[in-house]
Amino acid sequence: MKQLAMSTTKNVINGQKMIQYLLNRPKTEMVGLGMIYGQPGLGKSRFAKQQAIMNDYVYIRLEASMAHKSFLIRLLEIIRFHLGMSKTPIYGSTNDIYHKIIDILINYDNLVIIIDEIDYAFDNKRILGSIRDIVDETLSVIILVGMSNAREKLLMADAHYFDRCNYFCEFQEISEDDIRLLCNEIPDVEIEDRIVTFLKKVTKGNLRKLMKALYSIETTSKAYDISEFTVEQLKLIEIS
Ligand SMILES: Nc1ncnc2c1ncn2[C@@H]1O[C@H](COP(=O)(O)OP(=O)(O)O)[C@@H](O)[C@H]1O
Ligand SMILES: [Mg+2]
Repeated sequence: MKQLAMSTTKNVINGQKMIQYLLNRPKTEMVGLGMIYGQPGLGKSRFAKQQAIMNDYVYIRLEASMAHKSFLIRLLEIIRFHLGMSKTPIYGSTNDIYHKIIDILINYDNLVIIIDEIDYAFDNKRILGSIRDIVDETLSVIILVGMSNAREKLLMADAHYFDRCNYFCEFQEISEDDIRLLCNEIPDVEIEDRIVTFLKKVTKGNLRKLMKALYSIETTSKAYDISEFTVEQLKLIEIS
């Protein structure tokens, strides 16, 4: 399996369109806030991390144990590291740390910050409030990444504000075309085209399940010295 390869699925294309749209927005008229949401296993986190590496964006993942202050400290650390700033101890009140972040961000207009696992913030209104303030006080693009109900939850948390979220991008089930692309690009074995429909059916368009299936196909092909994996060989593997 090509571990670091990322295929350009329809979701990836739509996600890239969203970021470009937000970067090119009329900045005085629109805030730079967007959201990617969808079922688990559709490639949201992978997209977020890969885009951050490739395009020099900031990536931060919320954690269940994060309190408001620890979120701001972590964000400041990551932004400083990202911009190559010296690693000095972070001290001061929650509000001091918030202002340190703002002071940096107002000097870097086109910074894109992707916040993964935003669902954790729905139980912590202060984290959500600080994200809202950062969006308002800077020209940064902030992309929130969450589960399928994240859009509703965001609007429920603060409809007045998050109505202004300028772009919602729902990651969809992986299509047969996407599966064909992944079959060509990810495993180190040829896969017959007839298997694509089968894989769509058993994985229900879930990338995590697809990756497991491709791994099974690849290891079985190696064990049996198969150069092209065909429908007839499906009986050799078990796909769950
Ligand atoms: N575009 C892609 N190309 C190849 N593999 C991908 C791609 N997107 C996701 N994956 C793989 O699919 C699995 C699920 O992706 P992940 O980003 O964790 O989904 P989500 O965050 O939506 O739950 C991971 O193993 C990931 O490496
Ligand atoms: Mg994820």
